[in-house]
Amino acid sequence: MKLNRGVALVGAGMTKFGRHADLSSRELFVEALNKTSASVDRNFDRKMIQALFLGNFTSDLFEHQGHTAPLMADWAGLCPAPATRVEGACASGGLAFRMGVLAIASGLYDVVGVGGYEKMTGLPTPAATDALACASDTSYEGIPGATFPGLYAMMAVAHMRKYGTKWDMLAKISLKNHRNGSINPLAQFNKSIEDIAKGKGFTDVMQFLNDPKSNPVVAWPLRLFDCSPISDGAAAAILVAEEKAKEFTDTPVYITGTGQGSASMGLHDREEFTTLPSAMEASRQAYKMAGVSPKEIQIAEVHDCFTIAELIATEDLGFFQRGEGGKAAAEGRTAREGDRPINTSGGLKCKGHPVGASGVGQIVEHFEQLRGTAGGRQIPDVELSLTHNVGGSGATAVVHIFSTKKP
Ligand code: COA
Repeated sequence: MKLNRGVALVGAGMTKFGRHADLSSRELFVEALNKTSASVDRNFDRKMIQALFLGNFTSDLFEHQGHTAPLMADWAGLCPAPATRVEGACASGGLAFRMGVLAIASGLYDVVGVGGYEKMTGLPTPAATDALACASDTSYEGIPGATFPGLYAMMAVAHMRKYGTKWDMLAKISLKNHRNGSINPLAQFNKSIEDIAKGKGFTDVMQFLNDPKSNPVVAWPLRLFDCSPISDGAAAAILVAEEKAKEFTDTPVYITGTGQGSASMGLHDREEFTTLPSAMEASRQAYKMAGVSPKEIQIAEVHDCFTIAELIATEDLGFFQRGEGGKAAAEGRTAREGDRPINTSGGLKCKGHPVGASGVGQIVEHFEQLRGTAGGRQIPDVELSLTHNVGGSGATAVVHIFSTKKP
């Protein structure tokens, strides 16, 4: 199935992800939208935005503020344009982007703003963990005490049992994402793990990662450096009808594939813990729409809320055979110098994971990579890329494919 009308990305921008003690999510969103507006090459005025789709998981719990879409429109000076909040846990941003794509493809709008925001660090870690747990099947998981680190730890154990995956392979994913994030000025952690280890007196980075004080177990076998952090941040993007794209830039990025899938909320209802059926379905739809195979995708931003999630994503998306994701990561195939660079931005692990913003943050990275403006992280000659954004432990997944070429 193709879109009825083509859609192009002409602007994208984000705040730094991290701890923003003095800023609320509305201020973060306005900053992201200002940067996004400035990123459009020409002829753009934000008053052209006809509708807004905004991803946010739960500012209700994090900031005691609901009904946030019109709030953002108001603070951005965009009322009375319709503003709709889209919620799909950590996939909220990716879903908001998809709603923007579909709204233009429907013919209703020509210029749409999409965004995502979350302000998480106002709560102490146990309360933030509790708020996040609302994105699990609370009756069967959250209330009995399973946190997200706990749920992904179960997936890691299952992958280890089934395929012989080793924790060292997960550590390689974290090392790689921190190396990428260390050269991303908007990442929460601007340091490689090698540099963090050196700063704490370790000469051998694996000794640092194996040290229980430096890298404590959060939910076995996942340790601190296997987890994405708790973050604040916002990201935004401007979508336009394909036939209008050249009014705004000579180098639009085309959305050639979009897909979304759902799966059971609770892990207990899944036959397998080593794959996300929602991501399989979302990628199947997106590949079919774009008319491409996994082999052709040059780079991908995948949802690495935990290192095991990146490993499983690279298998679900068809980049590597089942059970081979860990080996591929350990061999450096997913590094910037490898044959399939993954998470050049630093990923959720190092760039940060303000949950409602993360899916749009992934798209900001690819807007830059496909236009050749990603600085030290730039992968040469990127023409085709993919983003993969997951909600909860995989009840929701959304995949987008981007191209420099008109479909
Ligand atoms: N990776 C690496 N370092 C981290 C980190 C992470 N994920 N989170 C915090 N740190 C560092 C901090 O920078 C700080 O370092 P410093 O002592 O050198 O300044 C130190 O660890 C302690 O930070 P703090 O904020 O007190 O950590 P915490 O113990 O309260 O929280 C986690 C750590 C891993 C429990 C928390 O980040 C977490 O819950 N992450 C998962 C979030 C999640 O589930 N998201 C949804 C996914 S579906």
